[in-house]
Amino acid sequence: MLADHEVMSRFAAQVVLAAVRRLAAESDGLPLRLVFSAGKTPIRLYELLATDYVDEFDWSRVHLYQMDEYVDPPSMDQDFSRYLSDKVIEPLGIGSANLMIRSHVDGRGGDWKSFIQRHEHHLRRSGGIDLVLHGIGSNGHLGFNEPGTAPTAAGAVVPLTASTRAAAGPIPIATHGVTLGLGVLLAAKETIVLASGSHKAQAVAQFLCGPVTSDCPASWLRCCDRVTVAVDAAAAKLL
Ligand code: GLP
Repeated sequence: MLADHEVMSRFAAQVVLAAVRRLAAESDGLPLRLVFSAGKTPIRLYELLATDYVDEFDWSRVHLYQMDEYVDPPSMDQDFSRYLSDKVIEPLGIGSANLMIRSHVDGRGGDWKSFIQRHEHHLRRSGGIDLVLHGIGSNGHLGFNEPGTAPTAAGAVVPLTASTRAAAGPIPIATHGVTLGLGVLLAAKETIVLASGSHKAQAVAQFLCGPVTSDCPASWLRCCDRVTVAVDAAAAKLL
């Protein structure tokens, strides 16, 4: 448990650096396959990586796979692919990326279902995820794997719950998301989970102290190895 969002972000930056160095040492020179949340929680972490940590690792060794995306957002400003390009890929000099570029998918008839199947297949064929950085939904979701999702679930187009839509604030939001499945996410070699703020306290308590159940998809991480959870005091207040 860390005091506040800033302290949590600084801690998380050190955890990310240690993880990529460790994974790089184990990888025989092959690219590292990373999946990073495009939520609000890691924004400060990404700023820190881009300033204090950009020269601490050869980020060109990283191949970033996008975790999730809105399917039908009222505004393209909400695109996670743009977020990841602006906050992670360009500032760090990430070597390569498989993004969920809306214009590419829509240009092929808007078939997000076949897109996510190909995206996930490519990731699995390349060896799966080395490091995933998660935020957690206030209902315990991971990516857009909402409550009720099986731990073996494949990537899919899913309806977003009222809670997930409300979390975006007063702006109009997509009705559906597309996401890597819990199966491939839970199989990551290393996992980091960040949670900040009292609106995440219930989800954090269920995640860490409740039953392991699809009612709280994050709880399945308790069956995984090499998971680091960094939460601030407000998010930890029900622990
Ligand atoms: C969002 C995204 C996730 C994100 C999580 C937490 O809806 N689908 O990828 O990690 O929920 O987001 P935030 O950090 O903005 O609270």
